[in-house]
Amino acid sequence: MAGKNAIGLDIGSSSIKIIQLREDRKGVHLQAFDMAMLPPEAVVDGALMNFTAIVEKIKELVAANRIRQRDVCVSVSGHSVIIKKISLPEMTSEELDESIQWEAEQYIPFDIKDVNVDVQIVNPKAGQGQMDVLLVAAKKDVIHDYVSVVAEAGLRTVCVDVDTFALQNMFELGYGFPPNETIALVNVGAAVININVIANGMTTFTRDISMGGGLLTAEIQKHLNVSYEEAEHYKTAGEGNITNSTIAREVQVLSEKVSQTLVTEIQRSLDFYAATTVNTDISRLYLSGGSAQIPPLIRLLERNLEVPVELVNPFKNIIIDPRKFDVDALQRMAPVAAVAVGQGLRKAGDNT
Ligand SMILES: Nc1ncnc2c1ncn2[C@@H]1O[C@H](COP(=O)(O)OP(=O)(O)OP(=O)(O)O)[C@@H](O)[C@H]1O
Ligand SMILES: [Mg+2]
Repeated sequence: MAGKNAIGLDIGSSSIKIIQLREDRKGVHLQAFDMAMLPPEAVVDGALMNFTAIVEKIKELVAANRIRQRDVCVSVSGHSVIIKKISLPEMTSEELDESIQWEAEQYIPFDIKDVNVDVQIVNPKAGQGQMDVLLVAAKKDVIHDYVSVVAEAGLRTVCVDVDTFALQNMFELGYGFPPNETIALVNVGAAVININVIANGMTTFTRDISMGGGLLTAEIQKHLNVSYEEAEHYKTAGEGNITNSTIAREVQVLSEKVSQTLVTEIQRSLDFYAATTVNTDISRLYLSGGSAQIPPLIRLLERNLEVPVELVNPFKNIIIDPRKFDVDALQRMAPVAAVAVGQGLRKAGDNT
């Protein structure tokens, strides 16, 4: 428990989330949580495009929440990161660290000079003298951009995580991993769906799908001929809160259609996972991300995948002082906090 928690800073394509956690003997306490919407196209395909807007929002969030900690943990996702489970001859982690740069080359579709490579042993005894290793490669130019915006906002990047692993850490704190069970964490954001299938607490499959609830915003914009902001408003207003019944009906129809598209993509990934792994039955799917709230999504996922689906509460097991926070407001924001909570559990000096 040594060291101070880093600030969790989740730069998503629709909004930035910031969190500060503090750990002591009693547990993990919430010190600050807030979010700020970004203009459209500020983040495209995991790459930061509108530096000015992002830096400005980070500064506003830090000031408004009186955050004095400077060390930050960010995370990357989508096309800028590649995660692969590979089999290697058994070796110590020191030997692995030495050989990985060379080993990695054959598994990564980018020039090895352009990526940061990290490894984690997930199964030290996979049989026949082999071990399973998770290889993580993230593009240097994308990491460089994250480090730059953080620096421009007056902060310091002390860890670069991956969205799917941040989710895993969030889940471990809140729920723990049931032994001898396989669960799927699915985070549906605006532009990316992160999937992490975990068996006995170990990642067995991850995938980022470049699709998300932003699709519904785009559909509403197109069909109702409204701006991005108006479309976001209709989408998040909740059924029954749109006074014009024609618009309400249209939003409902589009929500159904887009949810089906998202579910089909998620199913395709999980089918691929099932086809390439033995003893695979997923006992439960835990859903997070802002788009988990698109009304028919949970129902359609359950029906199509035939697996129980539960909305994750990232604040579960985090101690929240009701004198300092509006607990109801926090619970309403909870689905979007999943990645930030995982980042905020990291300490300065932690690696990827
Ligand atoms: N109540 C709601 N109903 C439907 N959609 C919602 C609701 N609240 C938020 N969303 C949608 O969730 C998305 C934002 O979720 P999230 O914050 O997880 O994504 P992000 O981190 O910004 O994006 P990404 O990680 O995909 O780049 C937006 O598309 C937003 O419209
Ligand atoms: Mg996100």
